[in-house]
Amino acid sequence: MNNSKKILIVFGTRPEAIKMCPIIKALRAKDDMEVSLCVTGQHDEMLNQVMEVFHEIPDYNLKIMRECQSLSDMTVLLLERINVVLSEVKPKIVLVHGDTLSAFVTALACFYRKIPVAHVEAGLRTYDNMAPYPEEFNRQAIDAIAWLMFAPTKLASDNLEREGKETKYVYVTGNTVIDALSTTICKDYTSKLIEWVGDSRLILLTVHRRENLGQPMENIFRAIKKVVHENNDLKVIYPVHLNPAVKQIADEVFHDEENIKLIEPMDVIDFHNIMNKAYLIVTDSGGIQEEAPALGKPVLVVRDTTERPEGIEAGTLKLVGVKEEKIKAELETLLNDRQAYLKMAKAVNPYGDGHAAERIVDILEKALEEKNVS
Ligand code: UD1
Ligand code: UDP
Repeated sequence: MNNSKKILIVFGTRPEAIKMCPIIKALRAKDDMEVSLCVTGQHDEMLNQVMEVFHEIPDYNLKIMRECQSLSDMTVLLLERINVVLSEVKPKIVLVHGDTLSAFVTALACFYRKIPVAHVEAGLRTYDNMAPYPEEFNRQAIDAIAWLMFAPTKLASDNLEREGKETKYVYVTGNTVIDALSTTICKDYTSKLIEWVGDSRLILLTVHRRENLGQPMENIFRAIKKVVHENNDLKVIYPVHLNPAVKQIADEVFHDEENIKLIEPMDVIDFHNIMNKAYLIVTDSGGIQEEAPALGKPVLVVRDTTERPEGIEAGTLKLVGVKEEKIKAELETLLNDRQAYLKMAKAVNPYGDGHAAERIVDILEKALEEKNVS
């Protein structure tokens, strides 16, 4: 084993796992790469669902999740625990993903130990630290630390270039979520939920962002509820995020609604395939904004801003904010105006060709050989 290619991968949440598992698979296919996988445990059940689908077993689980934990408490616990793993594994490089607390704190710990960091999904920006909160800060801070930056799109790499990052360390790779999609979508997929939807039009709903907790989330749910009351051919499926603060609002607004099904988080195969059967999607999720354009599904993004403008430019996504009347009006347009619907439903995919993971691994391999990190 060539010791210059000892790689530690660290992540903690569902979307990171979905987007990193294709990279782990591509790394395992290389004889000269030694891979260790550490999950922080920021998510528990929601992470395990993904690990089972991709058949990955972590070497380390730092178990940092606590109910309703504060960002500071998680930071302290993770910094302490990841430091132990770094000293034990002694990786030549650490791979982190995106904008989560797990990714940021791991990058920080690496920086303090002078371990090179490679950042997957680098360069996305709103330039507003409060939206998404705290993710915008996390992503910028990781890019300030990272040695290699894997930007999913040209737009993301342009952001990095404008910020003065050395372009020889910035690569446009596509987004690995498209690689994941190509392994999860099945043409003849069906399930009890799909049977429940029957001939109705399906609205798939996911909402979880911290900045939407409270009144904005209530507004979103009320808009959906009104539209469902006024249209008898609609069904809504909402896999509720396990954050208790989200669950509480969802239960309050949606109790006893026969055409709105609140369910546990779905495993990624079910979720992707149900997404593929949906008429439209309402979400504040980041990953779903990337997946939906690839599937040609119109998405109303219930946020005021997004770090993923590509799907909006392509026409599949629309930013509709968090006011009840506006969301209701946008839903009605998509439900009643066929032309408006078809305009958004056209399949365009700004996020790559499904080979981002292989590309990232090839770049990593070469970069480590050239640098011969010691
Ligand atoms: C985190 C990320 C966010 C990402 C989201 C994906 C940060 C700061 N935020 O936000 O960027 O979009 O994950 O879903 O990193 N919980 C469980 N079981 C689970 C997962 C969560 O019980 O498997 C509950 C816990 O009570 C936890 C709460 O959900 O305290 C919130 O989880 P947390 O990771 O703090 O924030 P997310 O909103 O999930
Ligand atoms: N997802 C899933 N099951 C669900 C809901 C979402 O597997 O019940 C997937 C979805 O396809 C996407 C990712 O989880 O790949 C998005 O996660 P989330 O919305 O929690 O986080 P974000 O992308 O906003 O960071």
